[in-house]
Amino acid sequence: MKNKIVELIEKNIEGLSTEDIAGLIEIPPKPEMGDFAFPCFRLAKTMRKAPQMIAADIKEAIGSVDFIDDIQVQGAYLNFYIKKDTFVKSMVDAAMADDFGSSTMGDGQTICIDYSSPNVAKNFHVGHLRTTIIGNSLYKIFTKLGYKVERINHLGDWGTQFGKLIVAYKAWGDEETVKKDGVAELMKLYVKFHDEAEKNPELNDEARAWFAKMEQGDEEALKIWQWFKDISLIEYKRTYDLLGMEFDHYLGESFYRDKTSDIVKKITDANLLTESEGAKIVDLEAYDMAPCLILKNDGSSIYATRDLAAIFYRKETHNFVKCIYVTGQEQKLHFAQVFKVVELLGNEWAKDQLVHIPYGLVSLEGAKLSTRSGNIIYAEDILLEAIAKIKEIINEKNPDLPDKDETAKKIGVGAVLFNDLYNQRIKDVSFKWEKLLNFDGETGPYVQYTYARCASILRKVDDFVPGEAIDYSLLTNQESMDLLKEISRFPKIVKDAADKYEPSVVARFSVDVAQAFNKFYNANRINVEEKDVRDARVTLVHLTKKTIKDALLLLGIECPEQM
Ligand code: ARG
Repeated sequence: MKNKIVELIEKNIEGLSTEDIAGLIEIPPKPEMGDFAFPCFRLAKTMRKAPQMIAADIKEAIGSVDFIDDIQVQGAYLNFYIKKDTFVKSMVDAAMADDFGSSTMGDGQTICIDYSSPNVAKNFHVGHLRTTIIGNSLYKIFTKLGYKVERINHLGDWGTQFGKLIVAYKAWGDEETVKKDGVAELMKLYVKFHDEAEKNPELNDEARAWFAKMEQGDEEALKIWQWFKDISLIEYKRTYDLLGMEFDHYLGESFYRDKTSDIVKKITDANLLTESEGAKIVDLEAYDMAPCLILKNDGSSIYATRDLAAIFYRKETHNFVKCIYVTGQEQKLHFAQVFKVVELLGNEWAKDQLVHIPYGLVSLEGAKLSTRSGNIIYAEDILLEAIAKIKEIINEKNPDLPDKDETAKKIGVGAVLFNDLYNQRIKDVSFKWEKLLNFDGETGPYVQYTYARCASILRKVDDFVPGEAIDYSLLTNQESMDLLKEISRFPKIVKDAADKYEPSVVARFSVDVAQAFNKFYNANRINVEEKDVRDARVTLVHLTKKTIKDALLLLGIECPEQM
């Protein structure tokens, strides 16, 4: 319908392209202001005429059109009132398509998303839960827009900390306990190392020596390190399984260990490497940034060096149009420095293709989470606790529900994901069970419940065939139109979410659709005698169900058919 309006305006003015017009057209905030509005401010400059007059001229030039009820000049705006049943039909047809919300804008282009990336031998904590959830949602959103997305888990699996861990393991650890307690035991050993090294600083030299061995490819050192890594991955994968998430690549920092010398050479050749207190750095003072450390004074590479290597590797391997990094805001400077160094090496593309996507903190105050030893919060425990709490609610309210475990998992995990994605990512996320698991608030369970309600209605009308012609004039009442307009926003919502790297846009949309549906449902009885009325209304139920499902999938959330 919007395209038809664009066409109409284009035929009757000069000086604006089709894209310009499409970009200017707005959906008015209130229904009284029509279905589409075209502002004439921009034309006023080129035409040297008051925008009101231009609007009036266009209205006159357009005259009467079969699908339009009325066109009104309101201030500088031209407001279009579409014939209701035509409008309804166009919205229903669009939303009915299998690929509603999808686009081909990304066809043939690759985006790399670097997210989750926990640190080996450390627990998968709530911060990593956020990058995992946001990164996964961005993966779904960009995929929907036609991009090929490479999901990269840049594990923190290299660095001097592994030298320390090897020393600690050899001094105080034993195989059995590590096998039994996994990451929790490795963390204990790591803490113990720091306590002991305060008393006995020579331990630090030993640790450095072990890391040096790792860098030289020493068999024993690498064997222990690989074992630590395997143990950690088993735990991380349990969390990914709960979340239903996967990666295309597990390429941690260690993958780049033989690629950092090339980076040092590139930087040296470009005359960018300078020395500072024995270390090698790139001076970034001209850009108001602290220097980017490339090699420590013992010659070992660091986090940034490996990130530089990873960027060039990814560019060569995937030829990305964007490489996106999802981490907490505390890494803002790190990425700004690394991206700047890439740019200074003569790569203009670094400016708009390398993107850091920061997010806020998780505050756990008020969430009484049961924790394992040492008061450390594991993401896995949060998810399991959410599932258990939902299971309790189901047992109490709907004990005969089939597939209780599967349903509790979808709702529990969905609730955690939704809570994380509902607000702008840069805002802190607070974690309150009562809020998060509420079936009435702006929550995952609320949206899923609306979905299940639609599913239940549809189960009762087995002779209904979605997509068959209906009497569109039966859907021109306020609640039906409002719901359809809400649903119709989906394609634009997906694009907006991608432009802003902001899954919250989709999360809010899903709540808006659910709320519009519940208003419609309260005002319109669905399973009525007259088949044409019933079919028209059931069509809206079908479209709501389909759109909620697609929207929640973009957030990584599944919908149970019954709850
Ligand atoms: N392992 C890091 C952390 O836990 C995140 C890695 C992010 N990705 C990257 N390419 N630096 O903080």
